[in-house]
Amino acid sequence: MYLNGCWKSNQNGRKKKSNCITLSQISVLFLRQKCLFNIKFYCMKKIRLTTRFAEDVLKGLSSTPKYLSSKYFYDDEGSRIFQKIMQMPEYYLTDCELEIFQKQRQKIYELFALNSKSFDLIELGAGDGIKTAILLEHFVGQDAAFEYMPIDISGEVVSKLTQMMSNRLPSLKINGKTGDYFEMMDAINRYDHCKKVLLFLGSNIGNFNEQEAHSFLVKLHAAMQKNDLLFIGFDLKKDSNVILKAYNDPQGYTAAFNLNLLKRMNRELRADFYLDNFEHEEFYDVATGRAESYLFSLKKQMVNFPDFHRNITFEKGESVFMEMSQKYDLEMINEMAKNSGFEVVRNFHDSRLYYVNSLWKVRTR
Ligand SMILES: C[S@@+](CC[C@H](N)C(=O)[O-])C[C@H]1O[C@@H](n2cnc3c(N)ncnc32)[C@H](O)[C@@H]1O
Repeated sequence: MYLNGCWKSNQNGRKKKSNCITLSQISVLFLRQKCLFNIKFYCMKKIRLTTRFAEDVLKGLSSTPKYLSSKYFYDDEGSRIFQKIMQMPEYYLTDCELEIFQKQRQKIYELFALNSKSFDLIELGAGDGIKTAILLEHFVGQDAAFEYMPIDISGEVVSKLTQMMSNRLPSLKINGKTGDYFEMMDAINRYDHCKKVLLFLGSNIGNFNEQEAHSFLVKLHAAMQKNDLLFIGFDLKKDSNVILKAYNDPQGYTAAFNLNLLKRMNRELRADFYLDNFEHEEFYDVATGRAESYLFSLKKQMVNFPDFHRNITFEKGESVFMEMSQKYDLEMINEMAKNSGFEVVRNFHDSRLYYVNSLWKVRTR
């Protein structure tokens, strides 16, 4: 293609080179530049994310005791396995939240829409959105004026969720975003053309330790205006057998979910974990309400990260802390709200009192 000039016909119909550029060539040039810029931007972003992933996992695996961050569980395969976990009968958390939404959606709607019928729903870590769809269907049926903005770290999750919601609710305004919600606080703050209701469901908050949960809630508080609301799912303390069954499932999905992070390191960081050399185990401490997931090394072994000139040694029986799932009581929930600048408006329980969805507002006093 000739891009520096163009060919023009002269009076004799003969083609002659000219230095002018036609409009269509300008747009080709523009699109090409834009495309190159997008590719460069995408590559830089990918390199930055891979580097951060490598730094985090190498830091965790070089520590004593070893740990990995559960936020890396959710590559596309991890998200698919998690969706299977949520559908297991043993994983009672899904059924509890579904029951709360099905039975109490009108009261939830009245409180979301109190003082202003129009609001925006921003869901952090939205997942498959199956539970949220119950609320959205109800809100659409009430002629509520709202936009739904699901945020998730997995691109596949966001595109499947957007597709599913658009099929189920064609009139819904949906504006999905892929990314880390920690890095989206400014964007959430700028989203202020009407009242916003932030959703943080599935007891995701329980994957943070006390300090992390506090600083996360303080950040959310800073991104909210005085009429905004926060709706959080909390898994409650209960019989330890019920809790342990949810994570030590007979189908082995939770083990696969944990081991998938080793697979992800093999694929994205060219590590050489041999998955059969690790085993998943879950523990629950009744006193603190902490459920903890670990991988144990079944033998003394070395894992290599050749691209980073690093290798990690595992002793036989050595543990890698993978994830915590905190279980709460109402006193802990009230304290968390108070300490991060919120006030509990209302708690919505399921019939077994296993779970609570707690609606918080920004404390003004
Ligand atoms: C435990 S699942 C819960 C999904 C959904 N909230 C529910 O209750 O069904 C956690 C979801 O959060 C997403 N996620 C995890 N860490 C995230 C982060 N830092 N930023 C954005 N999304 C995140 C995962 O991809 C996953 O879809």
